[in-house]
Amino acid sequence: TPPPAPVEKLLGFTAVGKSLADKVVVPAGYTATVLYALGDPLTSSTPAFKNDGTDTDFENRAGDHHDGMEFFSLSDTGGVSTSGATRGLLAMNHEATTNEGLPSYFVHANGGTNALPRPAAEVDKEMALHGLSVLEVRSNSGKWEYLSGSTFNRRVHQQTEVQISGPVRGNALVKTKYSPDGTKFRGTINNCGTGRTPWNTYLSGEENWAGYFTRSATDNAARGDKSVASLNRYGMSQGAASRHGWETGGADDKYQRWDLSKKGTSTDGSDDYRNELNGEGYIVEMDAYDKTRAIKKRTALGRFAHESASFGRLTAGQPLAVYMGDDSRGEYIYKFVSTAPWNPADAVAADRIATGDKYLDSGKLYVARFNADGKGQWIELTIANAAIAAYATYKFADQADVLVNARLAADAVGATKMDRPEWCAVNPANGEIYYTLTNNSNRRVEPSSSSQVAPDAANPRSYTDMKGTTAQLGNSNGHIIRVREDAAGSTATSFAWDVYLFGAEAAADASRINLSGLTNDQDFSSPDGLAFSTSTGICWFQTDDGAYTDVTNCMMVAGLPGKVGDGKKVSLSYPKTDGSTLNVDTFVGKAASADTLKRFLVGPVGCELTGITETPDGKALFVNIQHPGETTAAANIGDASKYTSQWPANAGYGAGKRPRSATLVITKNDGGRIGS
Ligand code: FEO
Ligand code: CA
Ligand code: CA
Ligand code: CA
Repeated sequence: TPPPAPVEKLLGFTAVGKSLADKVVVPAGYTATVLYALGDPLTSSTPAFKNDGTDTDFENRAGDHHDGMEFFSLSDTGGVSTSGATRGLLAMNHEATTNEGLPSYFVHANGGTNALPRPAAEVDKEMALHGLSVLEVRSNSGKWEYLSGSTFNRRVHQQTEVQISGPVRGNALVKTKYSPDGTKFRGTINNCGTGRTPWNTYLSGEENWAGYFTRSATDNAARGDKSVASLNRYGMSQGAASRHGWETGGADDKYQRWDLSKKGTSTDGSDDYRNELNGEGYIVEMDAYDKTRAIKKRTALGRFAHESASFGRLTAGQPLAVYMGDDSRGEYIYKFVSTAPWNPADAVAADRIATGDKYLDSGKLYVARFNADGKGQWIELTIANAAIAAYATYKFADQADVLVNARLAADAVGATKMDRPEWCAVNPANGEIYYTLTNNSNRRVEPSSSSQVAPDAANPRSYTDMKGTTAQLGNSNGHIIRVREDAAGSTATSFAWDVYLFGAEAAADASRINLSGLTNDQDFSSPDGLAFSTSTGICWFQTDDGAYTDVTNCMMVAGLPGKVGDGKKVSLSYPKTDGSTLNVDTFVGKAASADTLKRFLVGPVGCELTGITETPDGKALFVNIQHPGETTAAANIGDASKYTSQWPANAGYGAGKRPRSATLVITKNDGGRIGS
């Protein structure tokens, strides 16, 4: 008989402390290695990255702002695998660029042109820096590397043709000069969270896409129709400048498409780009294993500022549930339920994109309402719902219109406005769904504008003082809410919920802010990235913080959560200016302890931690460092001594000193699973 396997203690590592150092900090016994950074070549003929702002050809290099990421196993011989742990593909999002304004300054020699019109060469570079990467990675005797010449490598950018799939395909709302029949689109942008399907494809969420577009000060009058209400609801106010001014790059359609103004004479928009915004805001599916296959925008899952897409527990013969969030202040939590029941044989389907067509192009979209009693409802967004059909703010034409304008439909049915739903993930131990609610400065005890919302049970915190100020701060530190579906599982229309953790500084008032009892071993603010290890069951989450970066850089925390209802009811009361009190009861999970929650990693200066994926054996964890040094002032480009970060160059990776977003691989020095 072989000896019993050693019993590892999960969360057995020593928690790392908060850090303001310009480096990646991991626990003793672990190693974090830079694998793939902004500008790294993806073909064998692409020159090495010089990192001085003169590099071009980003269609064949790593994009910027590495975000969500998924690992797809390969067998030793390079075939599709579900278990390979030493060779695979990383598919990842390149969300944005640094700076997120005019221009994207670290990628241009002089920092770029900070005025309109933007030079075409700069615009071309910036457009190519946004999109997706697929790259092959391999472990050579325990040392991971990416293969710059692998034939699997792929870049998706703003000139890549993408199919519009599902109920919106061919609808008048997506007809453009590029696709007069409304069936295709160019590119995918501001891709943030990710997901992986049970049939082994990559899902990518299009998040803050609206800001890349502009429309003229006379556009409302030119349109004179309900599209104005839709544009306003999705953040495209009339006359607003675009983020990077790409529409000023030249007369070519690839630049002009970023101007949404009505310019053509058609009634349906097929002779201009007035409908272009309706082609962004979806969950996008890509087969990472096959770069010849079309990428598809899965419109049945609704259009909003998507983060991750996470599948509920699979049951043969039952529909699939896909959980999603809309990351904006006061936006909603959603669920898609497939029409097709799950067939386990599809997990290894030969045609993965056709499998996506089967499950993701037809189904029902629901939005969540959280009630004060710890229960909630999923409300179907259907044109058959009287509240949607008769909605005064926006007259929906058909179900495709409901999906394209899911935010408006969710308004109509009275969904619960949340504190910025970022990632969601499903606990493999019990099927509960976790959502990071990163923060919300608009959560106010006494709302004074239509964008502000009062605390409620599911979003119960609103600070009026911290660190000596008496400013109205809203929910500065965010929380992680979790949902347990009722007995019907994926098709349930009711659920129970509680708050797994409230972000807070350890020293904050335990009766109203530090409600989860965080200590210096794990105190955090603004949870964002979130994933469960399917190997260890650890709940990993990452921060994207503005409230705590005076004390620590952003971080990654490991948790071993319990379940909905394992904690207690907490009562909060807020004084109002008229002398009355706003009372809010909420439900918080079991308090944090050193056995259940520990800080695992702190990143370099100015970064946000993004993307969490692992090899199937749980022994290599891949994590992204996004936008280190983004706090650098534009005037200092070219003077490396004034960059707020020089990572990863200062960790020995690559040429130049300009900071770069990059992928890390984390391994345990004794070869054990990550988080033990
Ligand atoms: Fe791209 Fe909501 O973070
Ligand atoms: Ca995010
Ligand atoms: Ca964020
Ligand atoms: Ca980001």
